Amino acid sequence: MTTATARAFPNIALVKYWGKQDEDLILPVAGSLSLTLDAFPTTTTVALDAGARSDAFALNGAEASSDATRRVTRFLDRVRELAGSEARAVVTSTNEAPTGAGLASSASGFAALATAAAAAYGLDLDRRDLSRLARRGSGSASRSLVDGLAVWHAGDDAHSYAEGVSGPDMRMVIVTVDTAQKAVSSRAAMRRSALTSPFFPAWISSTEESLAAMLEACAADDFTRVGRITETHALRMHAVIQSCDPPIRYLAPTSVAVFDAVAALRDQGLEAYATADAGPNVAVIVRPDQAEDLRDALQGFGSVRLVGAGAGAQLVAPDSAAPMG
Ligand code: ADP
Ligand code: DP6
Ligand code: CO
Repeated sequence: MTTATARAFPNIALVKYWGKQDEDLILPVAGSLSLTLDAFPTTTTVALDAGARSDAFALNGAEASSDATRRVTRFLDRVRELAGSEARAVVTSTNEAPTGAGLASSASGFAALATAAAAAYGLDLDRRDLSRLARRGSGSASRSLVDGLAVWHAGDDAHSYAEGVSGPDMRMVIVTVDTAQKAVSSRAAMRRSALTSPFFPAWISSTEESLAAMLEACAADDFTRVGRITETHALRMHAVIQSCDPPIRYLAPTSVAVFDAVAALRDQGLEAYATADAGPNVAVIVRPDQAEDLRDALQGFGSVRLVGAGAGAQLVAPDSAAPMG
């Protein structure tokens, strides 16, 4: 197959990946855990073009920026190295989520690209190796190969992949308060955090502790504990980001208002917990039987969407939404 199309969903981290121990291999300073969504997919087609001298990358119907194209080429160089191929490719991708707004477009984007490129270049990779490959494009993409809850292991290249974990059944309400592209990418902001935040060493140890506690809470099917860890851990990440020099602040006033509203709802018996990735948009976890009440309560802060656990990246027939055989 020299052309392949794949679809992948974004994932929202409950225990965050924030910092690399190896920037080239994209190995994280600590493990992380996320929920792959059933909404906002990326669909990507990779078509090999034996005659071309460079890769082409179109994103959302327009030629992508030189930075985004360079990042795709760098990723395809890794695929070509594995495949023993020199062929350039035409990559066409569409994100249903806003790009670069903290709704994990790099996760769905590189999970879809890894899946489509592996097929187009004729690599026969299992899910674990696809997760390792996607990681090389964007760390969080390693987790979008996995259905539902996924843990991405820290460690060396061979062991740093994501795999499924079982945990409490939950839904997520995504509150989109701003779709604009962030001023500082996740990649640049996590590098600045490691280099300039005095809290960064404590962030690493606290993430390790949060992940261990989160895995216990998932194994115990304990939604309350999962939620408490999620919200505390998210605010700790934003504290580290805000303590950079020069500082970065991803949370907007409306994002903070959503965190406050969620805390107030909890006091009224609607048990929900908020988190936010590197951007102003907020994701709120809730038990399934209270999900619609939560969605209704958060209308007014932005555009609100109730989502559930979705599938890991898969090949699809071109121009169709249906998974292949
Ligand atoms: P986000 O919060 O959306 O993940 P990031 O800063 O992590 O934001 O990543 C945004 C970058 O990811 C984009 O500037 C682009 O380089 C890359 N990206 C986004 N969508 C895609 C896609 N569909 N295919 C390839 N790369 C993508
Ligand atoms: C806050 O995976 O986007 O969303 O590996 O440099 O591409 P790169 O960064 P990326 O970082 C995600 C950061 C986060 C937390 C998370 O998803 O775990
Ligand atoms: Co990202």
